[in-house]
Order: sequence, then structure tokens, then C-alpha cells
Amino acid sequence: MTYYVYVEPDPERRTAAGAAYADDSFDVVHQMSDLDEHLQRNPETLLVVIGATVDLEEALSFAAYQRVQRPLLGALLLRPSVEPDVLARAMRSGIREVIQELDIEGIRASAARSVDLSKALSTTMRGTDGTLNAKVITVFAGKGGCGKSVVATNLAAALSAQGTRRVLLVDLDLQFGDVAIMLQLPPARSITDAIGMAGRLDETGLRSVLTAYRPNFDVLLAPASPAEGEHVSRELVSEVLEVARGMYDFVVVDTPPFVTDQVLAALDLSDWFVPIVTPDLPTLKSIRLTVEMFDLLEYPRERRLVVFNRADSQVGLTVKDVEEAVGAHLSVHMPSSRDVPVSVNKGIPITLDDPTHPVSLAMRRLADRCAGTAAAEPPPKRRMFAFGRKR
Ligand SMILES: Nc1ncnc2c1ncn2[C@@H]1O[C@H](COP(=O)(O)OP(=O)(O)OP(=O)(O)O)[C@@H](O)[C@H]1O
Ligand SMILES: [Mg+2]
Repeated sequence: MTYYVYVEPDPERRTAAGAAYADDSFDVVHQMSDLDEHLQRNPETLLVVIGATVDLEEALSFAAYQRVQRPLLGALLLRPSVEPDVLARAMRSGIREVIQELDIEGIRASAARSVDLSKALSTTMRGTDGTLNAKVITVFAGKGGCGKSVVATNLAAALSAQGTRRVLLVDLDLQFGDVAIMLQLPPARSITDAIGMAGRLDETGLRSVLTAYRPNFDVLLAPASPAEGEHVSRELVSEVLEVARGMYDFVVVDTPPFVTDQVLAALDLSDWFVPIVTPDLPTLKSIRLTVEMFDLLEYPRERRLVVFNRADSQVGLTVKDVEEAVGAHLSVHMPSSRDVPVSVNKGIPITLDDPTHPVSLAMRRLADRCAGTAAAEPPPKRRMFAFGRKR
């Protein structure tokens, strides 16, 4: 696992570093401008060593930006000589240490200190009790094509709120997951890469199988080939979600159109259940069966946020019909719009591309409910199903 990246425009210095640190493994990039892409591809990176010939202003503005975007990432600055004014400015921008470029031992020691600090910070950021702080939100429907993946990707984008919250989107549609396509992500890493770590998955291990999408917004993709998905156990899904809970504010889970063992693992750990319904009888029938199962499993009703997708379709079913079938209030009404398939084909969630679109507004309302920043709705008047004890 490579935690370090060294940025140095000067080829001679790059070669010298290779010899000096032959026993350490680190990645090298040539320009500061290449760094962001490198960090996107290697989200497990904990340290950037900024080489002695990198422009000082570029180095300082990078550090100041990353201090907010990736607070766990450490930055060390190498200089031909350590000047007091440079040192002061570096510290103010968030650079952890400034070291003379030939001080190999000093660089090694600073690097080790910085990585230790990043690891310790990642533990503290888990919350005061050292564990669980993310809310897990599972999006599901009893039938295909209701808009689960559209809702999951847009809800995750809305929750991320331009990177001010840490969000992980997990594609549990292990056979035919669409998240990679909907976000235009290369399917290089997937949940199946975590199989070898089952039983001992930690934060670094999980990070190594994630794909960064935006700052503070990562994705755990479904495998590229449908057959691989079969090897993902229910236990692995639980383990992934438990570890992710310590790393994010929200974990959004997209699911296949039926309840699998892996989906049950996610549901068992969920804080919010987001059923998607559309106004057609087959969907209502299947969601009703799903809801009955939820009642049997005692997933609390007050934790269900029903999304009524294509709510404006004039097809003869009223809101009341739908609410009766689902046995719950409809929390969010999402209109039908051709801009939705257009956004899917474009590979950019509509919430990011057109934040004031009615669909985007609906997704932000849902995000506000999940984040607890919107008023709760009144409890349902009618109990549709005789069984099902609320927790
Ligand atoms: N509100 C909407 N208006 C217009 N089209 C929509 C809307 N919601 C979803 N769609 C379209 O419906 C199709 C199915 O959506 P999506 O892939 O999100 O469904 P799904 O439930 O994830 O399907 P699957 O079960 O196959 O995974 C997509 O082409 C999407 O663009
Ligand atoms: Mg889908």
C-alpha cells in the first residue's frame, strides 16, 4: 500500500529520491497540476511530499485547499534551505513540516510522523465514542426501473452538499449495477476487491477499493462482470458498512430490484429506508409485499422515507391509492422529466448539473430529511398491516 506521493518537476531530483528511498515505496508525479488526479485515483494516499523545485505559491495554495478538502492528507515541503519566513507561511497554510531537501533522515522522520498523525486523526474523526457516526440510507424498490439508481446517485450528491459532508455511495446491485455508468466512473475497482480482506477489513483496506468521485464523495462500485457479484457475502457487506460508518457522514446504498442476502445486510444496518414507488399497479403490488416483509423484520416505520417517483404522471392512481398500498405517507414527490434520462446518459447527476431543477429540489428535500435538517412528517393515520411491531 502506497501512502506517499512525491511531487518534483526536476528529473535529477526525482532520480536521486528514488535512490535515497529505495526501501520505501512511494508514487512520483512531475507537476502539482497532476496531483489532484493522482489523489482521486489513490484515495488511500496519506502524505504529499512537495519537492524542492515546486513553486512555493503553488505549494502553499495546494496545502490550504487540501486542509479543507482532505483534512487527513499531510503535506511536507522540501526546500534547498529552510528560511524562517517560508516556514511561517508554510505552517499558516497547513503544511505540517518544512525540511531541507538533502536531510534524508529528517524527511523520513517527518513523513513517518505525518502518516501517524493522519491515522490518529482518522480515528478521532470517527466521533467521540470512536465508532459509528455515518447514517446508512438504503434505497430500494420491489421492481426494476423505478428509479432506484437515479435516486441513490442524486441523493448521495445532494447529501454531499459540494463536499461539505463526507459521503460514500455503495452499489449493491452486484449483477447489473448502474452507478459506474451514471457517474461515468472507470470500473477499475469494485467491492469484489475487498473479498480478500474479509474478516480483517480496515479503513485503509476499504479506501483501497473505493473510487473517488468528487471531494469527500466516494463510491464503492459493483463488479464489472455479473458473475463476480456472487462471491460477495452478506458478512462482507456488513463489514464494509461498519468500517464505512466510521469514515463518512452518510452512506447511501443502491440495491437490485429484489431483496438479496447482501441487501438484507445493508437493511439491517440502515438508519433510513427509502422505498421508491411509481404510480403503476405492478410496482404498488411489489412494494406492498416488500413493506410487509419490512414489518415482519421490524424495520421501524418512522425510519421509512417513501419517494413517489414520476408523481405527476396522470395514470389514474391517486396519492391516496399509493399511500394506502405503501402504508406510509409519501415523503418526497419527484416529477417525471425527460431531463432525468438525459442526465443519466450524460453521466452527471441532475442534482449537480441543474441544482434548481424540480427533480433536484425533490432530492435535496429527501437529503434534508435524511440529515435531520427538515421537519419530520406526522405519523401515518392508518396502519395497513396487522402485523409488524415498531421498534
Ligand atoms: N423522474 C423520472 N423522470 C423520467 N425518467 C426517470 C425518472 N426516474 C427514473 N427515470 C428513468 O427510468 C429509468 C430507470 O431508472 P433507474 O435506473 O434509476 O431505475 P432502477 O430502479 O435503478 O432500475 P434497476 O432496477 O434496473 O436497477 C432510467 O432510464 C431513468 O432515466
Ligand atoms: Mg438500478
